[in-house]
Amino acid sequence: MDPKAVKSDLVLILDFGSQYTHLITRRIRALSVFSLCISGTSPLSSITSLNPKVVILSGGPHSVHSDDSPSFPDGFVDWALSNGVFVLGICYGLQLIVQRLGGEVRVGQKQEYGRMEIEVVKSCGIFAGKKVGDKQVVWMSHGDEAARLPDGFEVVATSLQGAVAAVEDRNRKFYGLQYHPEVTHSPEGMETLRYFLFDVCGVNAGWKMEDVMDEEIKVINNTLAPDDHVICALSGGVDSTVAATLVHKAIGDRLHCVFVDNGLLRYKERERVMETFERDLHLPVTCVDASDQFLSKLKGVVDPEMKRKIIGKEFICIFDAFAQELEQKLGKKPAFLVQGTLYPDVIESCPPPGSGRTHSHTIKSHHNVGGLPKDMKLKLIEPLKLLFKDEVRQLGKILKVPEPFLKRHPFPGPGLAVRVLGDVTEGNALDIVRQVDEIFIQSIKGAGIYDSIWQAFAVFLPVKSVGVQGDQRTHSYVVTLRAVTSQDGMTADWYCFENSFLKDVSQKICNNVRGVNRVTLDITSKPPSTIEWE
Ligand code: XMP
Repeated sequence: MDPKAVKSDLVLILDFGSQYTHLITRRIRALSVFSLCISGTSPLSSITSLNPKVVILSGGPHSVHSDDSPSFPDGFVDWALSNGVFVLGICYGLQLIVQRLGGEVRVGQKQEYGRMEIEVVKSCGIFAGKKVGDKQVVWMSHGDEAARLPDGFEVVATSLQGAVAAVEDRNRKFYGLQYHPEVTHSPEGMETLRYFLFDVCGVNAGWKMEDVMDEEIKVINNTLAPDDHVICALSGGVDSTVAATLVHKAIGDRLHCVFVDNGLLRYKERERVMETFERDLHLPVTCVDASDQFLSKLKGVVDPEMKRKIIGKEFICIFDAFAQELEQKLGKKPAFLVQGTLYPDVIESCPPPGSGRTHSHTIKSHHNVGGLPKDMKLKLIEPLKLLFKDEVRQLGKILKVPEPFLKRHPFPGPGLAVRVLGDVTEGNALDIVRQVDEIFIQSIKGAGIYDSIWQAFAVFLPVKSVGVQGDQRTHSYVVTLRAVTSQDGMTADWYCFENSFLKDVSQKICNNVRGVNRVTLDITSKPPSTIEWE
């Protein structure tokens, strides 16, 4: 998507490493205003070429006094002033403004972390809707504080400890908040952002998913030659499905999708997913049944990393064969590959300066089935790369992807291989975990709690324990049930089921799944554990 084609002014966030930076971007988009986030130390040309109406300097873990503290590029202030661009500094961003415009920042006498009360001391600009003396609770997280403001600035709010909480220079259109308006712990923060963007800066809103869709379709059609063909590997997950549906809308049957049954899918997954692709979305999908190929390679393998590597490698072989078959059929190589990359992936792959974080592909490699062959030389189409997950769901809705599909719990690329500990081909492990999982998930849906849970699934433990079933001693397998709540999968809490629900599920499992005589529940959060088991 070309950011310049969006019918909304752009609010550009310069990221200095705050954990809340993405949240600012999302909050602003929630106000129907287009917002992008780039590194705080991007060159001036990267900022000016996007032609933002407002630039927000994010918070960050640094002190402006340290030698390697990140800052906006030289020339930024002059460019903002000469183009009438509004600038808002949040926390570290405020301190940068104060320091770079000639004021003074000192190490705070009293550091302020957590909920604090602030008071309006001058009713204008950013707080024009408030009276002097009005108080509000905000979320503070800072050690340094503004000691002397640059010429032209004034303090408009202070903390009850007397620290500067908000500043502005209305003539030069520079503003600063020492607290975080974007977090829910600042209950009036969203209103302040709204007021700032619309009333102070006069931003035009117009960020609509329908426009994003139209614009994406235009870009895809401009990028491809009329006889170019495109391939896409569908996982059955939300991102690849929405990406493929969008590309299909743009170019029709020049899109060729493949769905691989690797023998590690959930109960009736292949049938269910293929039905959605074909019946509801009319997507041209080739289904490759490669379960024997995968499972024979996985026989006897117990090391989790080895399992992942084997799965990744097999997937590439199959994808390669699919592309070659297509080439023979079409008489020319497919030129493009669709990927469901999302905006957080893009942001995460260029961590903010001074964050100490490196390129995050190591995290992703754990979560992906494996890369695609480098020598394929396919150009990428990533139509979702400026969208957050909830926006992808909105887009999916417009594209008529069935709602239950959009709300599905995430499923790992290596599938049940990370839910059967040890050798996946041992005994009836895969069958057992499929049946247990199906009973668990259907019970969750039946109880009306599927949407309150972020992810739920069953795990097969290669452990046998003693039991009594039908007057007979049994020696059967143990399964465990896992259900978590989470925002983004990075941290998670275990879900508290009603006892009666658990009783019922456990009974159903033992009565219906042969080979299981013991059901356990995983009651660990992440950290210290993770969500999946292997
Ligand atoms: P963990 O287990 O790391 O999982 O706490 C966090 C989220 O990522 C998913 N996950 C994976 N997804 N390949 C994937 O495609 C993997 O190897 C993988 N491991 C974990 C997991 O299902 C959860 O949603």
